[in-house]
Amino acid sequence: MIGGKLQRPSGKVELMRAWQVHELGEPIDVLRVEHNVAIPQPGPGEISIDVAACALNFPDALLCRGQYQERPPLPFTPGLEVSGTIRALGQGSEARGLQIGQRVAAQPTLASGLGGLAEVTIAPMANVHPVPDSLDDAAAAALLVIYQTGWSALTRRANLRPGETLLVHAGAGGVGSAAIQLGKALGATVIATAGGPAKVAVCRTLGADVAIDYQAEDFVARVNELTDGRGADVVYDPVGGDIFDRSTKCVAWEGRIVIIGFTGGRIAQSATNHVLIKNYSVIGLHWGNYRQHEPDAVDRWHTELMDLHQRGAIVPYVSEVVDFHQVPQRLVAITNRATTGKVVVRVRD
Ligand SMILES: NC(=O)c1ccc[n+]([C@@H]2O[C@H](COP(=O)([O-])OP(=O)(O)OC[C@H]3O[C@@H](n4cnc5c(N)ncnc54)[C@H](OP(=O)(O)O)[C@@H]3O)[C@@H](O)[C@H]2O)c1
Repeated sequence: MIGGKLQRPSGKVELMRAWQVHELGEPIDVLRVEHNVAIPQPGPGEISIDVAACALNFPDALLCRGQYQERPPLPFTPGLEVSGTIRALGQGSEARGLQIGQRVAAQPTLASGLGGLAEVTIAPMANVHPVPDSLDDAAAAALLVIYQTGWSALTRRANLRPGETLLVHAGAGGVGSAAIQLGKALGATVIATAGGPAKVAVCRTLGADVAIDYQAEDFVARVNELTDGRGADVVYDPVGGDIFDRSTKCVAWEGRIVIIGFTGGRIAQSATNHVLIKNYSVIGLHWGNYRQHEPDAVDRWHTELMDLHQRGAIVPYVSEVVDFHQVPQRLVAITNRATTGKVVVRVRD
C-alpha cells in the first residue's frame, strides 16, 4: 500500500469515510462524503492518525475551488489541521519520540491528496506535535495553524515589542482571533477591526483593548487618534485590498505591515515611494513554508504556544463544533463572512 494515497478498496481492506473533491468548484457543489475509502498506511517518515477533530480554514474553500497555492491531485480530501491519536508509525518516524495512542495535533500534507476531513489521515512526522490533556480535541485542532501563523508573524517577522501598538484586521476571524491573544501575550496594546457589532464584541472578549467596526467607521482616523497621530507599530493583515491600502495611512514610523492573506479578494500593490517616505516595512509571512526551511522553528513555536496555553495566555476561540455532514455548509459560511473564530468538525463521535 502506498502511504497517504487514497485507494479504491480491494480484497480485505479497512474502510473509512472521508470528504472528497472530484472536480473543482464551490464547496457546496463539489464536496462528497465517500464511505468506502481504504484506510491508508503510513509510508516511511509518516504517521497515521485516528482523527478526532478537524478545524476548518478559509483555504479549505480555496482548495475546493482550485484557488489555493497548493493544488492536490483529484480526487482529494481537504482539511489542513487535525487532532487525534496516533494509529500507526511509519518506518523511521519513531525517531520523533511519538507513540501509538498518543494525543497529537497534526497537519496532513495535501500533496498526497489526503487531508484531515477523514476518519484516518496521514502526516509527515515533522508535522505531528504532542498536545496536553488540558486541550480538548476541538481546541487542540484549533491551536495549530492560526497560532503558529500569528506567533511566527509577530515574533519572528514583525518583531513586536512590549508597549507597541498592534492593529489586527478581521480580528474576529480565525487568524485574527489568535493574533489578538498573541499580541496581548506579547505585551502590546491591541486595536482590532471587524465587520459589524457582533464581531466587534468578539474582538473585545478576546482581549482587544479597542475594537473598531470597520464597516461603520474609518479605522484610519480612529487608529491615528488612538495613537496620538503616531499610527500602529505593527499591522496584521489577513484581508488585503482596500484594507491594506488604508493601513498604509495609519502605520507608524518604522512600522511593519505583515501580509497574512487576501480574504478581501484583491491583492494590493505596495507603493514603494510611500514605503520609503513613511519609513515602514511591508513583510510577507508564509508560515507553512517554515516546515521546509526551518522545521526546528515550528517545533520551538509549538512548545512556546503550549506554554502560553498552560499559563492561560491563549485559549483558542472555537465558536462552533459541528458534525461531519455539516462541512460544505460551514465552508460556505466561512466564505460568506458568517463565522467567527474557529469552526471545528467532530470527525469521530
Ligand atoms: N500567511 C500564512 O501563513 C497564513 C496562514 C493561515 C491563514 N492564512 C490566510 O489568512 C486568511 C484568513 O484566514 P482565516 O482562517 O482567519 O479566515 P476566516 O476565519 O474566514 O476569517 C477571515 C475574515 O476576513 C474578513 N473578510 C474581509 N473581507 C472578506 C471577504 N470578502 N470574504 C471573506 N472574509 C472577508 C472577515 O472578517 P470581517 O467580516 O470582520 O471583515 C472574515 O471573518 C486567509 O486568506 C488564509 O489563507 C495565511
